[in-house]
Amino acid sequence: SDSHCEILPIIDSTNQYLLERIGQLTSGDCCVAEFQSKARGRRGRKWFSPFGSNLYFSMYWKLEQGVAAAMGLSLVVGIVLADTLRSLSGQDIKVKWPNDLYLNDQKLAGILVELAGKTGDCAHVVIGVGVNLTMTNPDTNIVNQKWANLGKVDRNLLVAQVAKTLKSKLIEFEQHGLAPFINDWHRLDNFANRPVKLLIGDNIIRGIAKGINDQGALLLEQNGKINAHIGGEISLRMD
Ligand code: ATP
Ligand code: BTN
Repeated sequence: SDSHCEILPIIDSTNQYLLERIGQLTSGDCCVAEFQSKARGRRGRKWFSPFGSNLYFSMYWKLEQGVAAAMGLSLVVGIVLADTLRSLSGQDIKVKWPNDLYLNDQKLAGILVELAGKTGDCAHVVIGVGVNLTMTNPDTNIVNQKWANLGKVDRNLLVAQVAKTLKSKLIEFEQHGLAPFINDWHRLDNFANRPVKLLIGDNIIRGIAKGINDQGALLLEQNGKINAHIGGEISLRMD
């Protein structure tokens, strides 16, 4: 069925906009903005959203399997976004567990899946995507990590392709889980077989990144053994 996409010039956050309208939405409905005054990343961090130069996109989805599936869903969004941006730009875009896209080892895009509420076994989620296209230095004060731009692309085409592919892949994910996507993840993984560290609160765990398992957990080789790490409080970094 057809989805609606609202185009907003200025908004606090496209995720917030949809979160406040859950009752009026059908899976696949989305919005985009030219500017966000209060865009967010994970754990209350800020997402810099200057006017006109980037993509700020959110989509509503009703997850029939409930919140437990939200982790896998965010990995599927990363795969869809990476492949769409690859085909539009020809650039070697990669995924970083659990929720970013990288270009040349720099952060190109972020994904934020937020829970809006539950009805019975269903979870209502909003999927937010920010992609840097032609952002300039003075617009930002991102000092804690390197970031990248994709370059100029047709944003209408980008939104149309992301929305269309997301809908079909999320349906596939609801039917078959993460299993059909594991190979895609490994093909696109920026950190596969590279030394990484996991920041978990004040703790640091070091190892060699070995992709993900069927639950979407990060696999880390430590002293010859592979351990699965899962949880929203983990940040992956190059070591
Ligand atoms: P994690 O690995 O836990 O996802 P993260 O540091 O990337 O860690 P997020 O919450 O995912 O944290 O994203 C927010 C961070 O992203 C900010 O603290 C800032 O460093 C960076 N950031 C903010 N805006 C942008 C942007 N437009 N492009 C690239 N990076 C950004
Ligand atoms: C992250 O890397 O932590 C995720 C960043 C997600 C940013 C996008 S921009 C569109 C949507 N609206 C928001 O407020 N955040 C997401």
